[in-house]
Amino acid sequence: MRTLISIGLFLLTTFFTTNVNAQTAVERGEQVFDTWCTACHDDTRRTPGTAALAAKYQGALPALLEERTDLTPAIIELWVRNGISIMPFFRKTEINDAQLADLGAYLTRNNGN
Ligand code: HEC
Repeated sequence: MRTLISIGLFLLTTFFTTNVNAQTAVERGEQVFDTWCTACHDDTRRTPGTAALAAKYQGALPALLEERTDLTPAIIELWVRNGISIMPFFRKTEINDAQLADLGAYLTRNNGN
């Protein structure tokens, strides 16, 4: 009985710890996005990134990055570190690797759901 309770507690702890960590990465990523990306990828105004992606995909993909479900952390990293068209690249002193990973978690949060 004691063993079963121990296993149950272990599984519960693992479950909640894992979920709390995943949630936190997404929340931190949203803050990074709000700080560095919304100026151009805003959802309420016709900002340059949203406008450019609307023209690029013609509705085949959402113009809003936050509504995309096809992005991967690797491709986000590529574009954020190198820039594309008029989008600037971001240095590690602006967005460090941990913050970039959080950004990846945020922008891929709806993938596969
Ligand atoms: C100065 C404006 C600007 C800022 C700031 C900006 N972007 Fe962009 N971004 C753009 C534009 C414009 C494009 C479209 C480029 C093109 O025409 O292909 C773009 C494209 C992208 C794409 C490629 C999407 C696709 O399917 O082609 C990704 C991903 C992206 N941005 C992510 C980000 C992230 C993450 C941030 C914040 C770290 C950010 N951008 C900040 C302007 C910006």
